[in-house]
Amino acid sequence: MSIDYKAEIERLKKELDVTLVAHYYQRDEVFEMADITGDSLELARRCKADDNPWVVFCGVGFMGQSVKVIAPEKRVLMPKIACCAMARMIDGSYFDDSVNYMVEHGIAKEDILPITYINSDATVKAKVGEMGGYVCTSSNAFKIIEKGLETGKKILFVPDRCLGQNFAIKMGLKSCVIGEGECNPKEADVICFNGFCSVHQLFTVDDIEFYRNKYPGIKIAVHPECDPKVVQAADFAGSTSQLIKYVNELDPEQKVAIGTEYNLVNRMRQKNTYVLSSTKPECPTMNETTLEDLYKTLKSIEEGNPINEIQVDEHTVKYANLALERMLAIK
Ligand code: 13P
Ligand code: SF4
Repeated sequence: MSIDYKAEIERLKKELDVTLVAHYYQRDEVFEMADITGDSLELARRCKADDNPWVVFCGVGFMGQSVKVIAPEKRVLMPKIACCAMARMIDGSYFDDSVNYMVEHGIAKEDILPITYINSDATVKAKVGEMGGYVCTSSNAFKIIEKGLETGKKILFVPDRCLGQNFAIKMGLKSCVIGEGECNPKEADVICFNGFCSVHQLFTVDDIEFYRNKYPGIKIAVHPECDPKVVQAADFAGSTSQLIKYVNELDPEQKVAIGTEYNLVNRMRQKNTYVLSSTKPECPTMNETTLEDLYKTLKSIEEGNPINEIQVDEHTVKYANLALERMLAIK
């Protein structure tokens, strides 16, 4: 007999002290089961404030890890420990190499303020925390970089070169990318690591021109993980929640093409809304989690044998938490 996953998940949610969390990029059927949904900043804040001892997190690895770091007393399980491809581009040793690059180019280590996008492993966040730095997300990067600049130090921004460059442009700062052309840390304010999101690289200026030619007056809204040229050509750039707000506030007759993950765009208002790419922009890792995985994870709690539990060592929790809490303290 086949299992009615939705009914079973509802039953298990009622019986267990568990909060089900899902990022906006999750498949619809998984997303619909969640108690808490949001962008990465909202999810981190709301999980911290939540009382349940168990969290089942449908998203990518760094998101579940961040909950464990902020609230180590919680038991955090992930139906799929799927790793964000961008987060995989940097580890502790690449982070050290980036710091060394700046030192070799005449910036003393104590004059470097690292900021890591939340899309990074906890070990990278810990290194950032140890150096007095911050975590940021796509919704608060402006405020965090502004805060970082108050120290008078050079900003080392990891791992997303696009986010780093986009906010530098927005703030009128000079940026460069390590390994890309001449990157002289003495001449730049924000020095970026060379990471990127392959999903958001799908959107191009040609796509924008295509839509503007096809539908004159159309608005273009993109995530700041897109290439700076794309962000410059768009009408609006924002985190997933900010994109939803932007679209909801448009006149229903206003056409809009959106440059971010497919599941989110597909869930937005149906009329006059377009995906800004001819290639379906699906995040493979966000799409890994299925209803069956979610059911099995909840069932494992009921059976007293939890699967896919997130573990972070004490040292990493201590220092990664510093970087995350510095971010959460900024309203
Ligand atoms: P948000 O911070 O907008 O949730 O983005 C996370 C992400 O992974 C985007 O690709
Ligand atoms: Fe990572 Fe890109 Fe997927 Fe976001 S869309 S989780 S940055 S790979």
